[in-house]
Amino acid sequence: MSFRVLLTICVFLISYNFINGQSPNYSEDIAPIIYNKCLQCHHVGGISSLSLETYANTVTNAGMIQHVTSSGEMPPWPPDTLYKNYAYENVLSLQEINSITNWISNGSPIGDTSLLPTMPTFNNTSQLGMPDLELQIPTYTSTATTNSDDYVCISIPTGLLQDKKVKAIEVIAGNVQIVHHVLVYIDAFPNNSTIITTDCMGGEGSMIYSYAPGSKPLIFPEENNNKFGSILPANSSITLAMHYPEGSYGQIDSTKVRFYFYPENTTIREVSNDFLINEGLFGIPFYLPPNQITQISGTYGPTIEDYSFMSVFPHMHLLGKDFICYAVTPLNDTINLIKINNWDFEWQGSYFFKKFIKIPAGSTIYAYGNYDNCQCNKSKSYYSSIWS
Ligand code: HEC
Repeated sequence: MSFRVLLTICVFLISYNFINGQSPNYSEDIAPIIYNKCLQCHHVGGISSLSLETYANTVTNAGMIQHVTSSGEMPPWPPDTLYKNYAYENVLSLQEINSITNWISNGSPIGDTSLLPTMPTFNNTSQLGMPDLELQIPTYTSTATTNSDDYVCISIPTGLLQDKKVKAIEVIAGNVQIVHHVLVYIDAFPNNSTIITTDCMGGEGSMIYSYAPGSKPLIFPEENNNKFGSILPANSSITLAMHYPEGSYGQIDSTKVRFYFYPENTTIREVSNDFLINEGLFGIPFYLPPNQITQISGTYGPTIEDYSFMSVFPHMHLLGKDFICYAVTPLNDTINLIKINNWDFEWQGSYFFKKFIKIPAGSTIYAYGNYDNCQCNKSKSYYSSIWS
């Protein structure tokens, strides 16, 4: 008796796979993939000018969709998922990629539209609602030319009269299609008015958050008696290090940063942001000889106390090729932190671990980045290749 039941289930599973693997249709198989994994950037008013909200748009772009999903270009997720998985990971499974390919080779059938999932809605103004403090840059006109980017730091006084405990931070890009990334710094030294510094790759003070298109707001974890957060000191300033890519000349932006605070009497465990390994950034610049691959490496440690890591922020510029960072504990265990096999300057992300990662005292953290300073890289036009 129990054998028969088992057999029936197996047959059912096989036929189910057959239907979904062989003849996928839009309403049941493709729309759920696009809605969950693409629309957050590909909706009208989103960061991509290509909207994939409708069946018609999806079919019109089917060839391109097949190409970018099978090559792994879309959805953009640079980290190697076999090395480390993160919260908010957005990747397609092999089965989803095959569904898209099979759907297209079978003539892109629409299926029964009454079975379409509910389309998610997007709010381009905020994912978190009303903030406790909002700071906006003065209307800024990009000075990026056709072959040079505009990096500008805009420092805005918070006007806070007392220290605040930050629970969440959100950046709202003013002009989503030209804001390439925003690094948010807390500068404990006040300035009385907004200061604009041109040719600026990074702000003063400590970096608390980085925004790249498609980024989620930073919400510090809060569980039972453990509330994590950062202190925003009285009289501090916030610096936004803005990057507008080449080709955005003359376009206008008015990005905002929003802060959400814990109630005054909350006890928080403070999260700090530090550049643990920063080759070339604040120290001696490194040299990349032409037409060869050069490895730049850095270490931190042995650490003198335990750390809990919440996120990792790898960073290289146009010539970056690949990147790896890990810790080795005193017991010689390796703790993987991040590996990016094909560095893509377009996607500067902070990656949040699913749970805090403990790096015990006495560990050493290693980072290696390869740079490819070949002629081919110099001729790349980054703006026109992606940010058209
Ligand atoms: C994090 C944001 C983001 C997500 C998620 C995302 N895309 Fe994109 N996509 C972009 C951006 C930005 C571009 C390039 C700019 C543009 O075309 O406006 C792009 C470009 C494309 C293109 C055009 C490529 C070309 O050569 O012009 C296609 C097709 C595409 N995406 C499909 C998808 C599909 C399918 C998914 C989901 C499986 C997806 N994208 C997920 C941001 C995203």
